[in-house]
Amino acid sequence: MKEKIEEALRNVNHPAKGTDIVSAQVLQNIEIVGNKIILTMNYGKANDPFANSIKKSVVKILEPVVGSQYIVEFAEVNNRKPLLPEYYTLKEVKNIIAVSSGKGGVGKSTVASNLAIALSHTGAKVALLDADVYGPSAPKMFGEENFRPVMIEKDGKEYIESLQKYNIGVQSIGFFVSPGEATIWRGPMASNALKQVITQTWWGELDFLVLDMPPGTGDIHLTIVQELPVTGVIVVSTPQNVALADAIKGISMFRSDKINVPVLGLVENMAWFTPAELPDNKYYIFGKDGCKKLAESLELPLLGQIPIVQSICEDGDNGTPSAMNPFTPQGKAFAELAEAVIAQVEIRNKTLPPTKKVEVTQK
Ligand SMILES: Nc1ncnc2c1ncn2[C@@H]1O[C@H](COP(=O)(O)OP(=O)(O)OP(=O)(O)O)[C@@H](O)[C@H]1O
Ligand SMILES: [Mg+2]
Repeated sequence: MKEKIEEALRNVNHPAKGTDIVSAQVLQNIEIVGNKIILTMNYGKANDPFANSIKKSVVKILEPVVGSQYIVEFAEVNNRKPLLPEYYTLKEVKNIIAVSSGKGGVGKSTVASNLAIALSHTGAKVALLDADVYGPSAPKMFGEENFRPVMIEKDGKEYIESLQKYNIGVQSIGFFVSPGEATIWRGPMASNALKQVITQTWWGELDFLVLDMPPGTGDIHLTIVQELPVTGVIVVSTPQNVALADAIKGISMFRSDKINVPVLGLVENMAWFTPAELPDNKYYIFGKDGCKKLAESLELPLLGQIPIVQSICEDGDNGTPSAMNPFTPQGKAFAELAEAVIAQVEIRNKTLPPTKKVEVTQK
């Protein structure tokens, strides 16, 4: 169905771009939810004078293709450049954001991948590094379990390519080893593999490199802060006490004198449950406002609250992260999170010097 829609939309032209809306990448995503066809459009500017006539043509062309029981809706993303300070922390990467937690399974990978996509919707250039060597999530979350990166040449040097999907670059150890293989690696081997991936991947120019961190506070975390000048950390937790206690451990590690990476704020994941058929009801399964209170007590911003929604889990499993559609309640939550992260990064970059990589002194 999606292919049929895309094929049909190749007949809709964008007058100013001189080509059809698919080739011109004005059409960015097609999503079918029930009897709705949601088309995500990017006109490249806020008030494209051709937007209305394009929408009319789209509806007209699609009706005979999909049948009149379908309603066509439009979601819009735009190419507004976030106003980030003009200095570089890594040669071509402006901001490196680590998504961490103390406890496992609280939603780091879900938050990291959706945040990366939501950041790209603001016009930023974004890549995601899945740094969870022992339990990579990105191949599944991006529906690319069979992707095998090849070497590419840039400026006379060999680099590893990254996956380009949904407007962002994605790199993961999971693209190189079969599931389970890395789980038997010892610490140094895992760290070396990660180092190699970080330093040899062609990232290109980026506004944000989002890191999906492994659970806990271990070797891989040290490797990351030694290899990358991390601009700031976002700590994900559920509102539950055990998760909050581990979040505090995670925060203490990044704030310790040795590591000294600024914490940008907290994200409360699984903040409440909302059943699809009762979208206005909130059930506080893991307790209410646990992260909000922790954020207040640590004087950290609460960057966002993400509800438990069945489709967040399903979208992750299906390789189509929820943030792709910024008009669902969950898509909106990730879009708002992205705005809050951009705001905090701006504040951090104005008030603090760039992060230095952690130096290891050999004994
Ligand atoms: N807000 C949410 N609503 C519904 N399901 C969610 C939500 N957040 C995460 N999940 C689901 O919970 C599970 C764990 O999430 P995820 O893999 O993102 O956690 P993690 O912190 O990265 O785990 P790990 O520590 O193993 O890396 C996944 O199946 C995911 O789809
Ligand atoms: Mg994970």
